Amino acid sequence: MKRVLVMHGPNLNLLGKREPEIYGRTTLYRLNRMLEELGEKLGLDVVTYQSNSEGELVEAVHAARGRFDFIIINPGALTHTSIALRDALLAAEVPFIEVHLSNVFAREEMRKRSTLSDVAKGVISGFGVHSYIMALRFVAGADGETK
Ligand code: DQA
Repeated sequence: MKRVLVMHGPNLNLLGKREPEIYGRTTLYRLNRMLEELGEKLGLDVVTYQSNSEGELVEAVHAARGRFDFIIINPGALTHTSIALRDALLAAEVPFIEVHLSNVFAREEMRKRSTLSDVAKGVISGFGVHSYIMALRFVAGADGETK
């Protein structure tokens, strides 16, 4: 069974309450349960993790090395700033998909830059919680082409 770590970065603990017109009304709790349930149906072992701290996210990526087959990560604002998270993901050697609820390319200039996109398997942005669902479905279908 493939093991998938779904990671949520800063402020995503407030999902559902935070700027719902941009990020939607589904809470992080509900999103995580949805992903776990879908994972079960797709034959994936899904583990979810959220932190507001860059350091803790880096530690969690390190801990994923050799333990997970795939990471799905919404790095929140760290997308646009974090070289540490980029380096951690490269060091962990776990293929990852960068996801965003909002379409970061249709927003402020500062959100168009990502420190992670060029080393990600791919990027899914703008589909609300479906961005995560599409990523999970890709992981379930991906066979030997995950790198
Ligand atoms: C986000 C987009 C980021 O620019 C923002 O800082 C977030 C959420 C998204 O899911 O749309 O926190 O990653």
